Amino acid sequence: MMLLQWFIFPPPPSVFIKAMSVISLTSIAILGFSEMRGKHLNYSKFWNSNSQNSTSKRQIKLSGRAGMLLLYTPAFLAAFISLLLLPHHHIRFVLLNSALALHFFKRIFEVLFVHRFSSDMVLNSAIVISLSYFSSTSTMIYAQKLTQGLPEPPIDLMYFGIVLFLIGIFGNFYHHYILSNLRGNGEKEYKIPKGGLFGFVICPHYLFEIIMFVGVSSVSQTLYAFCFTIGTFFYLMGRSYATRRWYHSKFEDFPQHIKALIPYIF
Ligand SMILES: NC(=O)c1ccc[n+]([C@@H]2O[C@H](COP(=O)([O-])OP(=O)(O)OC[C@H]3O[C@@H](n4cnc5c(N)ncnc54)[C@H](OP(=O)(O)O)[C@@H]3O)[C@@H](O)[C@H]2O)c1
Repeated sequence: MMLLQWFIFPPPPSVFIKAMSVISLTSIAILGFSEMRGKHLNYSKFWNSNSQNSTSKRQIKLSGRAGMLLLYTPAFLAAFISLLLLPHHHIRFVLLNSALALHFFKRIFEVLFVHRFSSDMVLNSAIVISLSYFSSTSTMIYAQKLTQGLPEPPIDLMYFGIVLFLIGIFGNFYHHYILSNLRGNGEKEYKIPKGGLFGFVICPHYLFEIIMFVGVSSVSQTLYAFCFTIGTFFYLMGRSYATRRWYHSKFEDFPQHIKALIPYIF
């Protein structure tokens, strides 16, 4: 706690923010461990492999593109509307709102113009994920609002955060672009990705997403933002572990040395 005081604003006297910090960190991290143990959120390659079971349960399905738009649009609107409407007295608040709005705008742009999806998405999964993005985005903005008037943390991470955010968002986009080039028009099969950091890890786009959120937290310097980022780190660790296992099961020639998320380490 003593060490944290150097990096974060004093936690506001808000039970809501404290509870959300614990809930976000633990619930997202638990989802990550479920992914590791083979229980997946129903979309993408893991939905394909489970689709026969799930179809028999008559779940409502959306196209991959519609499902992904449902995921990101409410969170984008939350960040964009608060940027327009809420009075801002501090540069951190403007930067945090802008970073979140830009991130979700980029995801909507990629869903519409970059990704080539192969499968549907289950409505239930889409709603759960959408609510989680919306609530975490709104809570991050609200937590930032509550810091106004409080003394700044002794160590200022704002500029460091801007740099990490930019590296993260560009790296994430670049690897999405590589993935989209693996398929021609109408193609649906999976191939082994090459280029960028794909020679080192199978989920470089996840790695850059984490870097981007470390950047967002560093701009924000609130307890909630760091808790959300740590939860996201554990979730993407679990999903990347499952993804690597999936590639090994699907491609006999998948190189052993390619790790899941962190080059040479994990
Ligand atoms: N913040 C969070 O908690 C969180 C959680 C999850 C994801 N994300 C972010 O959201 C972004 C997308 O994640 P994701 O899990 O959907 O990524 P993904 O499974 O790798 O899929 C991304 C796109 O690439 C396609 N693709 C993936 N592997 C392919 C291959 N081997 N051959 C051809 N096409 C392939 C997918 O097609 P299909 O749809 O047909 O599989 C999809 O269109 C990532 O940047 C990730 O960091 C964030």
